[in-house]
Amino acid sequence: MKNIQAIVFDAYGTLFNINSLDERLAHYFGDQAEEISATWRRKQLEYTWLRALMQRYVPFSQVTQDALAYACQLAKVNLTDEICTDLLQRYEILKAYPEVPSVLQQLSQSYRLAILSNADPTFLEQAVQHNQLGNYLETILSADTLQTFKTMPQVYQLAVDALQLPPEQIAFVTSNPWDVAGAKSFGLTTVWINRGTIPEQLGFMADYEVSKFEGLVAVIGA
Ligand code: LAC
Repeated sequence: MKNIQAIVFDAYGTLFNINSLDERLAHYFGDQAEEISATWRRKQLEYTWLRALMQRYVPFSQVTQDALAYACQLAKVNLTDEICTDLLQRYEILKAYPEVPSVLQQLSQSYRLAILSNADPTFLEQAVQHNQLGNYLETILSADTLQTFKTMPQVYQLAVDALQLPPEQIAFVTSNPWDVAGAKSFGLTTVWINRGTIPEQLGFMADYEVSKFEGLVAVIGA
């Protein structure tokens, strides 16, 4: 990959493992936990897209809580205030995938690194701090500053403005196929961490695809 000056990472599902809450969900919801986890993530994303279209922004933390409430109602389980508070507090400090720290450390030797996420700035700061990734990151960018969500083009523009680089010199890394399409449509060079799904049929495909996070080093070069 030529001419890349910076690498910008999506947060949830890419750096931080949203399934790292599954044990806690199983503790609360038993054999319904898997279905609740999947509905929770799906609804969280759907609500960001719908709120962006409706121009009715609320912070990602609120969308996450609303999506959890939907998932529990659909599964006909009781989401008490205590369970909700516990799960959201844990969401703030999701575990990074095990390979993330060493790969970021390696890439930071040759590239400027940043995060670009829908999440509230406080959630991102907490997750970065909890996983000790701060030393590798030049900046943490949140769609919250624009009061909208990905895949609105102005969210990806945040990376161009913060890094003062043209889109094609920025490699955007995400595991979310819809985020690949949004970033590619905007003009960023895109790397898809394909953790076992299929691309969206939106007319914008990743420039590069790897099946493991550590595959980034080979495809981007360090
Ligand atoms: C993020 C979620 C949507 O923006 O993956 O971090």
